[in-house]
Amino acid sequence: MTHVYLNGDYLPLAQASVSVTDRGFLFGDGIYEVIPVYYGQLFRLEQHLVRLNRSLAEIFIELRITESEINAIAERLLALNQLQNASLYLQVTRGTSSVRDHRFPAAPKPTIYASLNPLPAVDERPDPTGRRAICVDDIRWQRCDIKAITLLANCMARQQAENSGADEALMVHDNWVIEGSASNLFMVRDNVVYTAPTSPWILGGITRELVLELLHEKGFKVSEQLFTRAELYAADEAWITSSTREIQPLVAIDGQCIGNGQAGPIWHQITEYYMAYKQKLYNGHIV
Ligand code: PDD
Repeated sequence: MTHVYLNGDYLPLAQASVSVTDRGFLFGDGIYEVIPVYYGQLFRLEQHLVRLNRSLAEIFIELRITESEINAIAERLLALNQLQNASLYLQVTRGTSSVRDHRFPAAPKPTIYASLNPLPAVDERPDPTGRRAICVDDIRWQRCDIKAITLLANCMARQQAENSGADEALMVHDNWVIEGSASNLFMVRDNVVYTAPTSPWILGGITRELVLELLHEKGFKVSEQLFTRAELYAADEAWITSSTREIQPLVAIDGQCIGNGQAGPIWHQITEYYMAYKQKLYNGHIV
């Protein structure tokens, strides 16, 4: 990444800086979105925009981001960074104030920052390699439905996974395994696909929503229902989903083998449907 967007300007990364009085820096007072962009077009933009503007409203930042604003930012950043396929990171904080005060400033001017990270192309085959996860106690706050930048608990969980050689940490809330540190969680048992229902305890993932849409459309049995750690260990398949990871199979959780230790048949099917969905959208662009 060479260039980023900051408050209306497009700058070389090294020249982009924000004030030490920014409330994002002092309090983690802000929200963010991560949106895939393929061939210059934002994927599931409408859904991401709804979630972004909802996050802003929920933390009482009055700004709303429009489709044309976000398209313009993505277009310019893709050109400057010479990328075609990337994930757009967009962050809005409440802005700066002259003194450190927990109360919101009277007339805040939000800080808006955006950057890109490369993503694989739309027609690249997903990696069927099984990933490992561990379960950790969910010590996050009670509004995980807001995509807040305040991610210390998520970072600690993810680092704990890393330290034990795993790829993701799964959050255990009241004995229910509800989602990953930066992903949603699915499991399959007896051909029924389960995922936790949306609630203040999890982020309503855009990938989760699309996977559910495709599963319903293709006639799979689906249940948005909580499940325990013991039920997860006994699953035939488990997957995590996110905008950057898409759908990744889990083959070991806390050292327990899931299914036969390889990506399962329903993972293969849903991955095909997911790929086909993207390829149809970007049909004219794939060279
Ligand atoms: N994280 N749950 C949590 C806690 C997440 O942080 C994410 C995404 C998801 C999946 O949401 P989506 O399908 O909309 O990407 C679920 C992003 C990718 C991140 O923090 O980088």
